[in-house]
Amino acid sequence: MKKRVAVLFGGQSGEHEVSLVSGYAVMAALDPRRYEVLPVGITRAGRWLAGPGAHAALVVAADPARLPTSFLPVPNAADEGTSASAIQREFSLLNADGALDLVFPVLHGPMGEDGTVQGLLELAGLPYVGCGVAASAVGMDKALMKAAFAAAGLPLLPWLLVRRAELEADSEAVCARVEAILHYPVFVKPANMGSSVGISKAHDRAGLRLAFDEAAHYDRRIVVEQGITAREIEISVLGNEYPATSVPGEVVPSGEWYDYAAKYLDGASQIIIPAPLDVGLTAQVADLAARAFLAIDGAGLARVDFLLDKVTGELWLNEINTLPGFTPISMYAKMWAASGLTYAALLDQLIELALERHQTKVGGALAR
Ligand SMILES: Nc1ncnc2c1ncn2[C@@H]1O[C@H](COP(=O)(O)OP(=O)(O)O)[C@@H](O)[C@H]1O
Ligand SMILES: [Mg+2]
Repeated sequence: MKKRVAVLFGGQSGEHEVSLVSGYAVMAALDPRRYEVLPVGITRAGRWLAGPGAHAALVVAADPARLPTSFLPVPNAADEGTSASAIQREFSLLNADGALDLVFPVLHGPMGEDGTVQGLLELAGLPYVGCGVAASAVGMDKALMKAAFAAAGLPLLPWLLVRRAELEADSEAVCARVEAILHYPVFVKPANMGSSVGISKAHDRAGLRLAFDEAAHYDRRIVVEQGITAREIEISVLGNEYPATSVPGEVVPSGEWYDYAAKYLDGASQIIIPAPLDVGLTAQVADLAARAFLAIDGAGLARVDFLLDKVTGELWLNEINTLPGFTPISMYAKMWAASGLTYAALLDQLIELALERHQTKVGGALAR
């Protein structure tokens, strides 16, 4: 029997376009002999569209109001947006006959990678690929992520959390606090974002003020971190209780750091797989990545990113991405390919892991 898989893509975050690319790649690679794919696009406004035309519609439609309505489950203008009743209805339509075996949420960023959609899927009792509610939320929030990593004894660069409210009250005091703990340059990041959106490197007080304005645009909570000159090392994690790691890779950004343009626009950043690291460092990266995954209680997959100080040689854990860019040419899949796992095999394993994790939950409930 074919497994019926709903693939969710698009979404309401700044990483909507990235998700369209990842979602398309997943749908194209799921073996049609084994899986029946149900495409589910989520517009920027939060409307769910199910059906074969969903992906094309999101790609062509910059404006959700202009989307063709022929395949919309709820094509009623009154249902635009994310009202609970609209989502509930659309979701129940998706799974009307209870025939859905699992969901693959290929969503990046807030309202998708952050535990929100995972919570919906938990409530619906559906297995889904990837991290659960808590791991997704913690992995999305750079401040909570760092707290979990610190509790697990993982190596982090010095950092501090700044709230937008504090900036509004007394931004000079906040700048002074930053300067007392860190030295320039510093990186300023919205806590809940990704793809380098809203992140700046500040070289002085004036730059710090601008960086705060930029980051505060995206989030109430802002992480300020010691800036270093670093090599960027990444590694893929796959598994549940005993996560496996791929060979590590290295990203060589086209610019001074790996900003949005370097990631997606200029095409000039380079990728080296495996990363040219000595055996000891390679093992350290793998060990820290698995520990980072367990520290947030990860499931299924994650990509763990490190900063390797070019001056001191120190290795710092930078972040975990619970739903990294997910095309065959994304780092995540490429590092697995270099480790002997094809993209299609990776999808098979992720689906198995999702079903396995779901079983564990059911077992847990029965055992109580
Ligand atoms: N502390 C730091 N020192 C040097 N470079 C950094 C630092 N923090 C972030 N960067 C640069 O900014 C990029 C994006 O930061 P990151 O924390 O990975 O955010 P995102 O979740 O958006 O990928 C990194 O890939 C790196 O190039
Ligand atoms: Mg990153």
